[in-house]
Amino acid sequence: MLSGKTIVLGVCGGIAAYKAAALCSKLTQAGADVRVIMTESAAKFVAPLTFQTLSRNPVAIDTFDEKDPSVVAHIDLADRADLFLIAPATANMIAKIALGLGDDMLSTTALATTAPIFIAPAMNVHMYANPAVQHNMRILAERGVRFVEPGTGQLACGYVGKGRLAEPEQIAEAVAAFFRGGRPLAGKRVLVTAGATVERIDPVRYLTNDSSGKMGYVIAAAAAAMGADVTLITGKATAPLPGGVRTVRVESAAQMLDAVLDRLDGQDIVIKAAAVADYRPAQTFEQKIKKTEEEMTLKLVKNPDILQAIGERKTRQLVIGFAAETHRVEEFALDKLRRKRCDLLVANDVTEPGAGFGIDTNIVRIFDANGLVEALPLMSKREVAERLLALAASRLERERE
Ligand code: PMT
Repeated sequence: MLSGKTIVLGVCGGIAAYKAAALCSKLTQAGADVRVIMTESAAKFVAPLTFQTLSRNPVAIDTFDEKDPSVVAHIDLADRADLFLIAPATANMIAKIALGLGDDMLSTTALATTAPIFIAPAMNVHMYANPAVQHNMRILAERGVRFVEPGTGQLACGYVGKGRLAEPEQIAEAVAAFFRGGRPLAGKRVLVTAGATVERIDPVRYLTNDSSGKMGYVIAAAAAAMGADVTLITGKATAPLPGGVRTVRVESAAQMLDAVLDRLDGQDIVIKAAAVADYRPAQTFEQKIKKTEEEMTLKLVKNPDILQAIGERKTRQLVIGFAAETHRVEEFALDKLRRKRCDLLVANDVTEPGAGFGIDTNIVRIFDANGLVEALPLMSKREVAERLLALAASRLERERE
């Protein structure tokens, strides 16, 4: 399955390094040409000879150990890689890559590669939860690095919690899935909005809604898995950020409008799953409003309609809107589709059990200018995302013919 692919496997110094030997073996058995780079600490846990024997290739540890004078070792390895995988990745290595430091063979090669990077972290539960580590992972995820999440269980340090290296089978499967065909959005650029906008009243109060970001985040993740270059613009959300996509955080509808319009050129598909506030307070108070009167009136003004602005400016983009409705779903959905010049509109009746805000499932109907295209019964939001993106990919294909 991986024949013809060169995978550079970076192994960091942690007890999980022993699992990297099984991973190396699996990747080699699947046909990959595996080139292992170990940190000096990794070599304290597992002998380099183990990886040399399993990969049938020399193992690189020292940046200055230049065995072949015709090439520069770290550039050569960086250029050869079809995929760059670091497993296990320590907090230290994640921080170095996030910062762009190159002070050993692995971090220097990681800096030099243009191949997709996969990182499988492994560390103590508190280290993994440490805000600095989380921040570094977010930075990398925003740059398109894909993470293979650590598992939860008994850790070598004695703690029970999240931080255990994903199983070698899981990591090998993530790699195989990346190379498997079925990447109908390869070479396409997809912009997704997700989550809820926040409209400030004063420094401690705001207007928002129940969007968890789940629908938009799985669309972003599914588009990345289908090979697209994905930008996710997200408002407030509770769902975990997807890996492998560029993420831009915004708060208000006005900020989301700017972020979207700044990035509209060059996109092939734009999907607006965000729940955008239609109105915002006419005034944002700089200081906390004090409780004085018995009654208080809050004046609201209309927000810009982002989807409409996209519809007016679109050139070649396939524009997909969402509609969260509680009644007369088809009528309102078709009205939004036409008014906002969408190519497709995904309507969810948020009063239906299993559909709408906050949950992992949805029930949607997809419309185009001619009416209903597809009615998707109750299914996971991930499946909805995949079906929607498959439809979008086929529409793009049709336009090209
Ligand atoms: O995030 P989850 O918890 O997973 O929930 C998913 C969801 C219910 C939020 C999602 O499936 C959904 O329906 N998103 C659209 C919600 C919404 O704002 O619907 P609307 O009918 O008010 O808006 C119609 C379209 O116009 C939407 O694409 C919206 O992004 C866009 N819009 C709306 C107002 C505005 N000022 N600017 C906009 O761009």
